[in-house]
Amino acid sequence: MLIIGVCLMMKEKLEAGAAPKDGAMSGYPSGGWADMARLVELMTGAAVCQAWGWFGLMVDVSSYKKTGCLRVNPENPDPEAIAEAAVVIRSGGTVAFPTETVYGLGANGLDPAAVSGIFIAKGRPLRNPLILHVASTRQARRLVTAWPAAAERLAARFWPGPLTLILPRAPVVPDVVTAGLPGVALRMPSHPVALALIDRSGVPIAAPSANLSGRLSPTLAAHVLADLDGKIDIVLDGGPTNVGVESTILDLTGEQPVLLRPGGVTLEDLEQVLGKVLVHDTAMPGTDTAIADTEPAGQESDPQGPAADAGTSSGVAAAPCPGTLFRHYAPRAEALVVTGDSQEQQVKVRHYLAAHPDRMVALLATAENAPVYQQMQRGAGAVHVEALGSRNCPEEIASHIFSALRRCDQAGAQVILMEAIPLSGMGLAVMNRLYRAAANRSI
Ligand code: TXA
Ligand code: MG
Repeated sequence: MLIIGVCLMMKEKLEAGAAPKDGAMSGYPSGGWADMARLVELMTGAAVCQAWGWFGLMVDVSSYKKTGCLRVNPENPDPEAIAEAAVVIRSGGTVAFPTETVYGLGANGLDPAAVSGIFIAKGRPLRNPLILHVASTRQARRLVTAWPAAAERLAARFWPGPLTLILPRAPVVPDVVTAGLPGVALRMPSHPVALALIDRSGVPIAAPSANLSGRLSPTLAAHVLADLDGKIDIVLDGGPTNVGVESTILDLTGEQPVLLRPGGVTLEDLEQVLGKVLVHDTAMPGTDTAIADTEPAGQESDPQGPAADAGTSSGVAAAPCPGTLFRHYAPRAEALVVTGDSQEQQVKVRHYLAAHPDRMVALLATAENAPVYQQMQRGAGAVHVEALGSRNCPEEIASHIFSALRRCDQAGAQVILMEAIPLSGMGLAVMNRLYRAAANRSI
């Protein structure tokens, strides 16, 4: 592929130089030494391109894997498929597998070389640590130096399930897993395929979401392959995941528990078990600490977001998840959160469409407003509507947001308008993801 690409580049370059429209070598005066100078430049360029092409090809071939895809029954996973995937894990390879939240990209969490394979496949910065997935509380306890009463109560109530606990790490946990941090993130997933794979592998499985770094988390095996085909060994295809957003992350290494990332277990659920839980600023929707790409031009930016007036900003000393410092959940299109109640959202969407008649706009709409948007006729631009679920049922919305954002990209959207929902319950996790997808911008 690369060689063909290089040849095409050279051909284009040579053709552009050899057959200039106005009869002169482009950018050069015509004739004699000027032509010679151009020729030398083309040949040097070609040689460099070719050398680079060979180098690229070697790197590509050496890291290329044929990714196998094994279908598994999500409720009752086939032992042969699990056994095959477990052999890959034990021999240092990478396996993508379904969890109840999103698909993870797993490797032997006690083998630094295997864990490095995850970072390479995803293009993930090494300073962004990984969650270790376990199949039992007993296995979790071997990975930490302290197991506080809060961990015991939370594990008893929410494991297996979408809750990740950060606890002081034991020496057996490799540095590459925690990015050198003193805490290790642990979670016992509830998906039967994930549990069977960890159990059969006999080791904790390090696994981030199985997407290219910074991109949308995968909720289908097809999403995994779209990002990672050729870069990983196996995908276990267990159909769609049901929670749809990642696990809740709770830091238990300090004096008080701190919510670092809202997810499948709600803040209210945690507080029922623990009493007051502090919320880290980065867990709040709309407080964007991400390393900013260039802020797109426009006056729609709302740098404060709802966190500014939600009154839950913790001011806690706990470190954020390193992952929250990177740009996340980015669709290709520009995304904007539409704030307000249903009526206000309709008005804002109408205004936006009227002001941008030529843009291909996609809408992530609540069930309340989707029928209104589906009726909308446009001039030159088009409207693509994704109905996610009722604004009063954040669980349903959560289970659809990542796949809907991918479909918006596939539909060729230039802009994605995403309706905000209330922050209670799973609404906090939904809005955290939407504001991140929008790089904190709203209308
Ligand atoms: O639901 C989930 O949690 C999924 C599934 C596959 O389990 N996993 C997932 O992993 O979302 P990932 O890597 O995409 O997000 C984990 C987050 C990152 O932001 C990372 O920085 C943070 O957890 N994290 C991991 N280990 C940490 C640690 N020791 N201290 C603080 N943050 C940590
Ligand atoms: Mg992720």
